Order: sequence, then structure tokens, then C-alpha cells
Amino acid sequence: MVKIDPFEVDHWILTRHARAKHSLAHSYCASLSINDLQSYSGGSNDVNTSWASLLSKPMGYGPMQGSEDLRSKISNLYSDKSSEDLPIDNIVTTPGASLANFLVLFALLGPGDHVVVQYPTYQQLYSLPASVGADVSLWKAKENEGWRLDLEELKQLIKPNTKMIVINNPVNPTGAAIPRMALEAIVEIAKERSIIIFSDEVYYPLFHSIESTDRELPPSILSLGYENTIATSSLSKTYSLPGFRLGWIASRNPSYIDTCVNARSYALITVSQVDEPLASLALGAPTVQNLINRNLALSRHNVEVVQSFIDRNSTISEWVRPVGGPIGFIKFTKSGRPVDDAEFCTRLLDKKGVLLVPGKKCFGDGYDYQGYVRLGFGVRTEDLEAALDALQRFLDEDYAGVPVV
Ligand SMILES: Cc1ncc(COP(=O)(O)O)c(C=O)c1O
Repeated sequence: MVKIDPFEVDHWILTRHARAKHSLAHSYCASLSINDLQSYSGGSNDVNTSWASLLSKPMGYGPMQGSEDLRSKISNLYSDKSSEDLPIDNIVTTPGASLANFLVLFALLGPGDHVVVQYPTYQQLYSLPASVGADVSLWKAKENEGWRLDLEELKQLIKPNTKMIVINNPVNPTGAAIPRMALEAIVEIAKERSIIIFSDEVYYPLFHSIESTDRELPPSILSLGYENTIATSSLSKTYSLPGFRLGWIASRNPSYIDTCVNARSYALITVSQVDEPLASLALGAPTVQNLINRNLALSRHNVEVVQSFIDRNSTISEWVRPVGGPIGFIKFTKSGRPVDDAEFCTRLLDKKGVLLVPGKKCFGDGYDYQGYVRLGFGVRTEDLEAALDALQRFLDEDYAGVPVV
């Protein structure tokens, strides 16, 4: 039996969600209904017609790598002036980015392989390689330097058997981004030894606090002219449709896709033929851009709401203001000493019904950052404000009892 660690963040939410009056534990932008897709379609979709044709469609397995229509829309997400079009054969659909990540890590890594993983990040990205027997080195971001990743450290972590560098851009839980120049440098480092760069881009391109004209705005890893690149993503976060359970793997190197398709056959054969055509509606033009714009506007507004909360409590809370994804990592201290983050979250839920995610508990073993909680601000603004009011009452009435580390 494969030894696999408990998936802490999901377990934390799963076991506490029912008790939460205000949940800021999730990391997606406020979810949308299928009817909402009509209003974001600019009149180009008729959801009712699509729904009716779905009702009469024979429910076969569908195309083995995913519907061609959907894959061509996914391919459009990667088209920019600087890179070649991505052939649809270089894309495979999956139920969510969870399975996309699972397949990449399960199919391409094994005993004898070494992998470098950006850290802190989503647990799947470092626990799964370890569970398939790979040797994992964590590439730790510098807390006091705006969660910067040190490229010299990356070079030192590379070993003769390094097969993959794993990044997550923008990154869960801090909402930091790896800027364009750093991505280009990572590519140069990887190229020297033909190392695969695998980028989980589930929050891409939700860079709410980087101007679109900024030269450092990160592109997808697939846009940097290096063949050995893989990106995963889904409709869950940026597009507000996690219930579709629709994600994908895309690569500049078709052999990686072939390997993942083979592994996928062992797990699911094809993706739900109900989800794929509905996902196609969401990723068609102009709906896809309207969804991104909706969530950029929501995140831009809500990040200010959280910033005001932090400013009001600046003697005990701080963050590196996130730039991408609807998530931030807030540090709570007392007289400069970090609080016990799990205890903070437990008491906050018990006393005021607010659910947050404790950093140390949910973001892993190699963790040496103290006092952090992850706050998801992608919810509707009124829900965020109500949750922050309850959090404020906790700080005013109950914070004195929270232990420090
Ligand atoms: C970085 C990252 N990757 C992948 C996922 C999985 O998302 P999904 O399976 O809903 O697409 C998550 C979910 O929180 C995530 O934060």
C-alpha cells in the first residue's frame, strides 16, 4: 500500500465546515450557477439551448482525451503573441486540477527521481511526489522578503537526478506571484539538464494587484519557449465553477500528455459528458474573459477590504499583500511573538463561528513560518465584511487568551 499523508487543508475544512457561520476557508471566487453563465455570455450563449441539446445527447464515454471543442477553448487560454498555438492534442481534460496534478505527479515521478517543490504551497504538490517514492526538496520562499524565491537556492537544490521543478503561480496560500523574470530564470536553470517544469496555474491569470502593462506580469509557464513544461488548471478558482469538476493538463511536450492519458485510463477513462459541454460554455468567448473580469474586480475590491481590516489591527496583524488569487496569508502576533495558529483558528471558530485555515497545520512538514492563517477573500463582499466583523469581535474580546508559539 502506498503511504500517503493526511491531506490537512481538506481535512481541516471537512471536519469543521458544518459549524461555521462565516467561512473564509475556501480559495475560489464566489461560485456561479449555470444560469449565471447566460449573463456573462454577452448574449453569445443560449444556456437553455445548450442544456436542451445536452438532455438529448447519447451519454457515451465521449472522446478519450476530452472534447475537441473544449480542448480548443483551453488551447485559446494559452495563445499569446509570443508563443506558438498549443495543439489540442497537447491537452487532456480531468475532473478538476486535483486529478490533473495527481496524474502528472503519479505518472511522471517515482523512486530514484528527485523533485524540487516551491514552498509553502498546496500540499498535494509535495506530499504526492513523496508518496510515490520520489525524493522531495522544498524550495522555501523568503517570508521577510515578500515571499521571494531565491534562484541561487534553486540552483543549489538541483541534483543529478532532479527530474522536475514544481511551482504554483500565483501560489496558495500566500497569493504571491513568481514574476516573469524569475520564471525565465527558472526555465534557464531547468533547460541545462532538461528538467521538467510543472506549474500548477489554478489561480492563473487572476493577478488582481499587478497591472496588465507591468513587464513582470507572469505569463503561463507554457509561454516561455521551453518544451519540457506542463501546466494544470481548472474551472474552480478563476472561473468560479468548482462544482463542474473540470480541469486539464496542458504541455508543450506531447509525450508527457501521452503518459498522463495512459495513467488517466486507469482512474477514469473519460471526464463526465455532462461537465464537458457546460465547461465549454464557460470557456467560450466572450464568457471566459467576462468571468475573469468579474473575478478580478471582486478580488481587487475584497483585497482592499482585508487590507483595511489589517490596517485597523496593525499592532497584531500583518501580511505580504497578495497579488494573485483570492487568498492571503495573515500573520497574527502578540508583542511581536507569533500566535499558535491552530489554536487561534480553533478558538475563532468556537467563539465567533469564523472558519480560517491554520498555516502550520495545513501547509506542511518543512514549515518554519509561524503565526499564519490563510484567509480566502473570494466570497461575496457582504459575506467577507460579516466574517471580518466577527473576526474583529474575536480580536477585541477573545484574543488575550490565544497562546503564542
Ligand atoms: C494550488 C491548487 N491546485 C489545485 C487545486 C485543486 O482544485 P480543483 O480540483 O478544484 O481544480 C487547489 C484547490 O484548492 C489548489 O489550491
